[in-house]
Amino acid sequence: MSEAWEELKRDCAGCHACPLGETRTKLVFGVGCEDAEVLFVGEGPGEQEDLQGEPFVGAAGKLLDDMLAMIGLDRSRVYIANVVKCRPPHNRDPQPNEQAACRGWLDRQIALIRPKLIVCLGRIAAMALIDPGFRITREHGQWFERDGRRIMATYHPSALLRDPGKRPEAFMDLREL
Ligand code: URA
Repeated sequence: MSEAWEELKRDCAGCHACPLGETRTKLVFGVGCEDAEVLFVGEGPGEQEDLQGEPFVGAAGKLLDDMLAMIGLDRSRVYIANVVKCRPPHNRDPQPNEQAACRGWLDRQIALIRPKLIVCLGRIAAMALIDPGFRITREHGQWFERDGRRIMATYHPSALLRDPGKRPEAFMDLREL
């Protein structure tokens, strides 16, 4: 691992910039290939992620792995991170102040990975990275350009667990990759 990654992980590990830093069990930095061509960005850790310190390891994570496998990818070839690195209590949406406090870590991850493509998993990541007014039902699967990179959003795996009828649309989105 490069010095820049080590420094970023060290800095992030001690973060208490927002109240989520007080209630977390483990900070969930991110996982995957550090020069991946594709970066997936979720919302924030859930219960299992908070316990294990790794993103998408619960039921939604299993579905994400299955979706990656369907397009010939796996965790070792992409990078997976979240908008906020610490679990919001009771899995509520991360608040604007929490997202703002955490944003620098994600921006530094993006700067180091330099992915060709970014895929936002769900509305929260899409609002943070594409447009604050993003409408996931209308705009999923469409490519946007931000900071010279192509970026799109698809449904969050948790939404696909709640509503399996949306899975074909999510699959079509990922096929775009
Ligand atoms: N949901 C997310 O958005 N991120 C995770 O890491 C787990 C569940």
